[in-house]
Amino acid sequence: MSLTPPNQIIWWKEPIHRIEITWIILALSWCLVLFLWMPYWHVFGNQNLSNESYRIKPEAFEAKAKAMADKYTVRKETKMDIPVVKPPPGSDVYLVSRMWQWWPILELEKDKSYRLHVTSLDWQHGLSIQPVNINVQILPGYETVMNISPNQAGEYGVVCNEFCGVGHHTMLGKIYVK
Ligand code: CUA
Repeated sequence: MSLTPPNQIIWWKEPIHRIEITWIILALSWCLVLFLWMPYWHVFGNQNLSNESYRIKPEAFEAKAKAMADKYTVRKETKMDIPVVKPPPGSDVYLVSRMWQWWPILELEKDKSYRLHVTSLDWQHGLSIQPVNINVQILPGYETVMNISPNQAGEYGVVCNEFCGVGHHTMLGKIYVK
C-alpha cells in the first residue's frame, strides 16, 4: 500500500477552473462594493450621524438631564407621563435611554442647532429616529454627542432598535420640531 498522496491532491498546483475564478472575482467585488458603501452612506445617506463619544458615569449624565428638564420643562405628555422639555437653541440637550424609556421628550426649533447627548443608564439601546431613519448605537458608560439641526417641523418617533429585554417594543419616545 502506498502512502504517497496522488499528485492531484496538491490543489494549489492545479490551474484554477474558470467557474471558480469567476465566483472569486464576483464575491471579492461585492465585498469591496459593500465596504465602500459604508463611508459613502455615512456621507450621503444622512442616516448614521457623525458623532463624538466620551466616557461618562450614568449618574452624572442623569443629573445633567434632570437639571435640563427641571429648567426647561414646558408641559407634561400625559399619556406617557414624561415631561416635554424645550431647551434653548444652541444648548446641550440630554436624552436618557434606559429600560424601557427615552427620557425626556424634546421639543426643538426648526433650523436651529443643538448638541444632542445620549447615553444609556443600563445596557445597550439603539436610538432610532423615525420617519427619518437615523440610527445610532447607544452604549452604557459612553455619551454619544451629535450636532443636530432639525430641518423639518413635525413629530418624530424615537424607537429602540437594539433588542434590550421584554419591554424593548414599548421603549418609545418623541421629539417635536416646531
Ligand atoms: Cu432599548 Cu430595545
